[in-house]
Amino acid sequence: MGDQRLNVVVGVAGGIAAYKACHLVRVFTERGHSVRVVPTPSALNFVGAATFEALSGNPVSTTVFDAVDEVRHVRVGQEADLVVIAPATADFLSRAAHGRADDLLTATLLVATCPVVFAPAMHTEMWNHPATRDNVATLRRHGAIVLDPAHGRLTGVDTGPGRLPEAEQIAKFALLAVEKPDAFTRDLEGKRVVVTAGGTREAIDPVRFIGNHSSGRQGFALADVAAQRGADVTLIAGSVDALDVPPGVTVRSITSARDLSDAMAEEAPGADVVIMAAAVADFRPSSQADSKLKKGAADDALSRIDLVENPDILAETVRRRADGELGEDMVIVGFAAETGDESATPLEHATAKLARKGCDLLMCNDVSGGATFGAEDNVGWILDADGAVDDVPHGSKHAVAAQILDAVSRRVAARG
Ligand code: CTP
Repeated sequence: MGDQRLNVVVGVAGGIAAYKACHLVRVFTERGHSVRVVPTPSALNFVGAATFEALSGNPVSTTVFDAVDEVRHVRVGQEADLVVIAPATADFLSRAAHGRADDLLTATLLVATCPVVFAPAMHTEMWNHPATRDNVATLRRHGAIVLDPAHGRLTGVDTGPGRLPEAEQIAKFALLAVEKPDAFTRDLEGKRVVVTAGGTREAIDPVRFIGNHSSGRQGFALADVAAQRGADVTLIAGSVDALDVPPGVTVRSITSARDLSDAMAEEAPGADVVIMAAAVADFRPSSQADSKLKKGAADDALSRIDLVENPDILAETVRRRADGELGEDMVIVGFAAETGDESATPLEHATAKLARKGCDLLMCNDVSGGATFGAEDNVGWILDADGAVDDVPHGSKHAVAAQILDAVSRRVAARG
């Protein structure tokens, strides 16, 4: 998708989270997309039209009776490459699910053939109400993407699911809907998925550690997309760049490979899928100094750090499944960050690693020259233990995550 400039319609319904739509407009315009804001009349009780006009650089109207000569109620939807409704209130979901066309935004929805993404925000009771559940199911059946809301503080003192995700997260999902429209298939509904992400840090002394370049982005993207496909997701996160907590995901933070091994021992039982996207340090110092090591000290411990091997968590998980400690139907996914060398290409190394580790699927990315680490994009292959190799075309880490989950989901379905 890269540099494609999109016509984005940001629909805003009348909820307290309407102020966050301002930031969403900004995120899209800063990425070079053209934005038209279409609020519902009640949204203007929360944010004025002037604010949306100034931020988007486009006129704002709520009714089909403005600029009738332009046939705006049809044109806005026809010209859109993407429609995002944020926040989508319970009332708005109801009107949209029933095909109403009583304001410009609902009329636009009836015309649009591009991806339509609803980002609901409401109180937990409203979100859980059977009427809202039905409306969400109807909209999904009609082909719209309805994001699950984030958990957290709501308008009052209450907390729970119903919070609007942050603007950057909504934008990421919305752009994924254009890049890979089938990324949001609800095929992991009711499945428990454990994802690991980021690098581990192995302490040398209180201030130094052995670490790696992993940013955690691919693992976070997997957690993001798995949760939006209906899974109950736990993310075990090592050291990561400043990344947003994926909406609806339980996050456990760990530091070292041994912490990760302990966390996995607790989380893997009952999981349907384990995805090891973390970059686990292979070795750790044999002991951790209690005080800062000094260079040039008499014993000069810094110049000769003894290393011992860390547990191989992926291999451990495969072994525990084989020993009957974990569900025999569990799908286990490994990652391989490979560079080629004189003995083999990255793909050949990955093929050998898949066999060695015994997992079901392996995502291999070519990291020659530092590619992948910290980048927004990824590329590589998905290897299946049955011998199939799928190309993963260059795309956002969210699109790559969705393709990995497609492969996971095929395996889950095959095992019943
Ligand atoms: N992994 C793991 N525990 C380790 C090391 C790696 O669970 N101690 C997992 C990673 O999360 C990844 C996969 O194993 O899913 C492959 O990691 P990688 O570092 O490429 O594998 P290694 O076995 O360390 O192979 P190499 O010799 O290429 O470093």
